[in-house]
Amino acid sequence: MEKYETQREFMKSSFGRGAESDQNRGLAQPPLQKPRGQKAETIELPLFGEDLIVESNVFRCIAERRSRRDFKDEALALAELSYLLWATQGVQEIKGDNYATLRPVPSGGARHAYETYLALGSVEGLQKGLYRYLPIEHSLLFLYQENNLAEKIKGAAGGQDFAGKAAVNFIWACLPYRGEWRYAESSHKVMLLDAGHIGQALYLACQSLGLGNCALAAYDQQRMDELIQVDGKDEFTVYMSAVGRV
Ligand SMILES: Cc1cc2nc3c(=O)[nH]c(=O)nc-3n(C[C@H](O)[C@H](O)[C@H](O)COP(=O)(O)O)c2cc1C
Repeated sequence: MEKYETQREFMKSSFGRGAESDQNRGLAQPPLQKPRGQKAETIELPLFGEDLIVESNVFRCIAERRSRRDFKDEALALAELSYLLWATQGVQEIKGDNYATLRPVPSGGARHAYETYLALGSVEGLQKGLYRYLPIEHSLLFLYQENNLAEKIKGAAGGQDFAGKAAVNFIWACLPYRGEWRYAESSHKVMLLDAGHIGQALYLACQSLGLGNCALAAYDQQRMDELIQVDGKDEFTVYMSAVGRV
């Protein structure tokens, strides 16, 4: 038996071969956005305009994109963070009766199975700590304060130093049932493909602001899930990216 047979099979399409989905069985759809729970403190995100953009030429943004890990010790403006959140997961339209959201990134079946967490070290006007983006309201939910954030994030990022030095780390956690509800066992590959789009959108948005970022998949699953306070079962980290001034 091939050593990686199961993993290779997972990379292939299983559409048309799977079991009936919960959607087809008429089961209720999961919410488009994770409920905010007990956390009541929300922070409005400012509007952003084209004045923020330092490179509006798409060709140059694509041609000059690189992973950058050498961050300056300088804060991001809140408007810059607001733009990066919108560009990666902002909600532009809700379709049907809360059936789907349309966002600047595509998603298979418009399921958008990710929530965005921020391990936020240095953004003007915000205290260090953990936050969650509320894409429908375009605001931030404050989760908890963490003064030792740089060490914590470095540890959870598998010891990668640049993550600890970033102004902010975007952490994308998947809620798999959002995809499973519609596509059953064909959903998991699709949800991973979605994460790549989110990551690339962040690269290009950072490029347009003159910021740097680096994708990160070599993190410690348990420590990262603990840091963002998710259960690791119905919600877990899949991908992240460190952002800072360069
Ligand atoms: C899915 C994915 C995961 C990555 N994980 C890491 C990581 O954990 N640590 C890191 O330093 N770079 C990581 N990178 C960045 C790659 O090393 C980088 O994209 C590659 O070396 C090519 O360089 P470039 O992005 O500058 O073109 C990752 C990139 C992708 C797309």
